[in-house]
Amino acid sequence: MANDRRIGIIVNGATGRMGTTQHMANLLAIAAEGGLPLKNGDRLIPELTLVGRDAGKLGALAAAHGNLHWTTSLAEAFAGPDHVFMDCAATGERPERVRQAIAAGKHVFIEKPTAPTVDEAMALARLADRAGLKAGVIQDKLFLPGFAKLLALSQSGFFGRILSVRVDAGSWIFDGTERECQRPSWNYRKADGGGLALDMMAHWRYMIDRLAAPITGVCALMSTAIPKRVDEQGRAYAVDAEDTNYALLKLANGAVGMITNSWATRPRRDDTMVVQIDGTEGSAAAGRFRCFTQSAADTPEAFTAAARAGGVDLMAHWKEVPDTGPNKNPFRQCWEAFLRHLGEDAPYVPTLVEGAKAVQLADLAYRSMAKQRWMAVPQLSL
Ligand SMILES: NC(=O)c1ccc[n+]([C@@H]2O[C@H](COP(=O)([O-])OP(=O)(O)OC[C@H]3O[C@@H](n4cnc5c(N)ncnc54)[C@H](O)[C@@H]3O)[C@@H](O)[C@H]2O)c1
Repeated sequence: MANDRRIGIIVNGATGRMGTTQHMANLLAIAAEGGLPLKNGDRLIPELTLVGRDAGKLGALAAAHGNLHWTTSLAEAFAGPDHVFMDCAATGERPERVRQAIAAGKHVFIEKPTAPTVDEAMALARLADRAGLKAGVIQDKLFLPGFAKLLALSQSGFFGRILSVRVDAGSWIFDGTERECQRPSWNYRKADGGGLALDMMAHWRYMIDRLAAPITGVCALMSTAIPKRVDEQGRAYAVDAEDTNYALLKLANGAVGMITNSWATRPRRDDTMVVQIDGTEGSAAAGRFRCFTQSAADTPEAFTAAARAGGVDLMAHWKEVPDTGPNKNPFRQCWEAFLRHLGEDAPYVPTLVEGAKAVQLADLAYRSMAKQRWMAVPQLSL
């Protein structure tokens, strides 16, 4: 007989941007639909406990969603009966929070980056494994329709031999003086888990590994374009983390990767996050929502034609990959996969080792910058 199974989930950082708009919103949507149906017909119904530091904000958020449980004490939440700890609070101190969750016997599902260094990230992966708890990290970007299409092209062999992968990402983040800063100020403070490389390499690692080939080497150059900013309270502060990151990559199949990522750039392209793959049989460029291809047969002559004004329209020779169905929210897809991992032991690909690999790329990029040299990417295992 099919059963309704309730699964208690602590959402730490519920009042934050990701906490409210992604984790709470998608979990509450699953609950409102009567839970996630499992293979055996049971339904897994998320029940949330919201955790944060500001009782006023937290109480209001909980009330707005039908009087959810809430507390400002993580220790109280850990002592309670909930099964899962989701950490989507600011990145700093995440390892300590995850260690406490594991000690309390909670399964852990956490935002990226999982830790500030690869050693700490691997220590968490080993701790969860030894405790026999289920653990995973959010890796949402390949569920975005544009990148999902790029992944499908890669898996179908569309590119032939992949030659290069290029990530071009970023946009202008206001410094908070004239116009409000669109990112939290902790993003610009090292001690709080800030830094663009730590933030975004976490995505580039799994995207490039799966879209093109595993990354085997990195050489990075970083800078802080805007050294003074104004925080949420209107106070000026000095930035001590990088806001611009360039990296050259070696991939296992001999291909070359390049990352250009900045919070101080004005994009003139389809999306603020674009990935282009060039291969012998074709190329594709994708943003979060759309993906365009150019096969070898469709490739225009550009070398000579582009030498005169109006000689070739480089944008005209690309075909858009059509949508194959409705696009489900990427975070919803992450949660459904992790809930199936919990509820019916289905595999969950982004384990904490995968999370550590993501941190590893950032870690090695920082070391490359400090030592001014290429860094090899060692294999990680439990
Ligand atoms: N998967 C993704 O695409 C994605 C996108 C953005 C952010 N993130 C990650 O999600 C997490 C939250 O990011 P956000 O953009 O929602 O940030 P945010 O600043 O909007 O929210 C963070 C929350 O943590 C709380 N907080 C701040 N400092 C804290 C501290 N020292 N201790 C405990 N709580 C603290 C804040 O009050 C807030 O509620 C980060 O780890 C970030 O890297 C992931």
